[in-house]
Amino acid sequence: MRHKIDTLIPGPKATKIINIIKELSYDSTFTYPLVIANGHNCVIKDVDGNAFLDFTSNIGTCPLGYSHSEIMQVLKEYSQNGMHKIAGQDFYCEEHAKIAQKVSSIVPENFKTFFINSGAEAVENAIKIAYKKMGPLPGVSCSNAFHGRTLGALSFTFSKPIQKANFPELPVKKIKFCINDNDLEIDSIEKLLKENKIAFILSEVIQGEGGYNVASKQFITNLRKFANQYGVPLILDEVQSGMGRTGKWWAFEHYNVKPDIMSIAKALQVGATAYDKIFDPIERGVLSSTWGAGSRIDMIVGTKIIDVINRERLLANATAMGNILKKGLNEIVEKNGIIEVRGIGLMIGIEFDTKEKRDNKLIELFKQGLLLLPAGQKAMRVIPPLTITEEEIQEGLAIMTEVLL
Ligand SMILES: Cc1ncc(COP(=O)(O)O)c(C=O)c1O
Repeated sequence: MRHKIDTLIPGPKATKIINIIKELSYDSTFTYPLVIANGHNCVIKDVDGNAFLDFTSNIGTCPLGYSHSEIMQVLKEYSQNGMHKIAGQDFYCEEHAKIAQKVSSIVPENFKTFFINSGAEAVENAIKIAYKKMGPLPGVSCSNAFHGRTLGALSFTFSKPIQKANFPELPVKKIKFCINDNDLEIDSIEKLLKENKIAFILSEVIQGEGGYNVASKQFITNLRKFANQYGVPLILDEVQSGMGRTGKWWAFEHYNVKPDIMSIAKALQVGATAYDKIFDPIERGVLSSTWGAGSRIDMIVGTKIIDVINRERLLANATAMGNILKKGLNEIVEKNGIIEVRGIGLMIGIEFDTKEKRDNKLIELFKQGLLLLPAGQKAMRVIPPLTITEEEIQEGLAIMTEVLL
């Protein structure tokens, strides 16, 4: 057994730390009172010594778990280097070249990549690159989309009203994110592009924060087809679904389409906007940021993560382990308010009948030593590290079966 709960949850040290944060910082999107101390493989230890089996990979940001030997080696190498962080768009460094080469080996041919800090900024720069070519026109986004919380990206976000209330918006036209090929609105993009001048279409192919909704094949095919027909760039946001999470480098590969511009972050450790060279802003200074390409440790860790995913065949592992997980979870569907299990590879959502049940069950799972996260209004997401083993999956499934049924 990897998980082990020894104290009341939260324990005394965790309670003290959380109280300080609540008083002096902003109590943001924390799901449960976990205070992280350290991690090993697929296990997170809290400050009171409790061990939790982690099926969140910190929202997909730690695809190799928490103690991969190559990542530990990088941390050791940089431990004596005081220039671990530089103004990366103002000074060159080798890590920038290395991650650019590595990313170019996995994004579509003829793409360049601009490095930045976060997922929201990766989207922000994707839309700037589109505006630069197309002019300040409305952009298209989808119902339940999540593209980040900076004001530009937020304009195209529709997953939760609380994220947007009172904030001003860039011009946006919303279409329905269709999950069925026979949805009556499957062709809505055609009508919209016919009747409006549009700067870009922005979409996820598997929605993350919006609820782990898998787009219909026809919906994504239509976005690509009509974007081509009307000469509008298609931006695909792979911040959550990318970097191997679905068993392919990018979720769009399951749909046989390619974007013109794409956003990457989370598992890459840094934000990145990759774009077809025909969208290169060319003039200097259009895009920049002090820390963009400046976190040298993050960039070398991101580079190593791509290497390890290739070498250890973790795309195949994501597919195989995802199938085992889904098979196990399907056993509990239609029981005790569990409506559906959906997803591709290790990007799996469990839909509940009510938000209350989902929220209560997340806390119960946490208290039993398993970490999962919410997604959308009433789903849970299961996103373990890509390195997960069958034994770890079985341990997690056993806790889920006990708590959820
Ligand atoms: C698809 C998608 N785009 C953008 C973002 C924003 O990323 P960040 O939180 O790093 O700003 C997220 C974060 O969850 C995301 O899932």
